[in-house]
Amino acid sequence: MTADEQKRAAGEAAAALVEAGMVVGLGTGSTAAWFVKALARRQLDIRGVPTSDATANLARELGIALAALDDVKRVDLTVDGADEVGPGLSLIKGGGAALLREKLVWEASNRCVVIADAAKQVAALGKFPLPIEVVRFGYVHTGQRLADIAAEFDLPPPRLRMADRGVVVTDGGNVIYDMGSNLIAEPAALGLALKSVTGVVDHGLFLDLADEALIGTDQGVVRLTP
Ligand code: 5RP
Repeated sequence: MTADEQKRAAGEAAAALVEAGMVVGLGTGSTAAWFVKALARRQLDIRGVPTSDATANLARELGIALAALDDVKRVDLTVDGADEVGPGLSLIKGGGAALLREKLVWEASNRCVVIADAAKQVAALGKFPLPIEVVRFGYVHTGQRLADIAAEFDLPPPRLRMADRGVVVTDGGNVIYDMGSNLIAEPAALGLALKSVTGVVDHGLFLDLADEALIGTDQGVVRLTP
């Protein structure tokens, strides 16, 4: 199976978890897009809370009714992809630059299911550079503070995320630093250190948030719990 076929299988398995009447958090990325497509095919009476403009556009095109996060009290179930799935379902997210809205929706959810292809599962987090969302004002200074934290945690310095058309700007109008690529020995401590920096809005470490994972493998979709 290709990675994309595994993503599709995981997305379709997650769509089967949705029940009529639910408020559903719609993740961002190629795996989440498979989930959104499979969910749309079920034609259930649900409302989706999108975690990015891209997902909102896709869901709208497919006829899924949408709600803003502040229009709902709680989200029943959120399904989203990840860049790495580590021990205890600790995650790195934000490869698609949507980590802030994703984390806000995840934290408002009664149940969070992460979907991924087999290559995303790792013995320890850190191979994938950790995305950190930073406000634009003073982002160079903030980047210097992030470099200090990286050195403290034995990680290579963060790099400002660029695309063909220049600096990547998130849906929330912020920029992204990607912090090195190495073993993150103490994810919780690193997360706290990053959140203590004034210019940091949030980071892509999702710890103690996922209730289960559906991983697409060559042997079928495997369900993991923390
Ligand atoms: C977006 C994310 C995505 O879930 C993550 O990047 C995985 O993407 P894909 O499903 O395309 O591999 O966190 O911010």
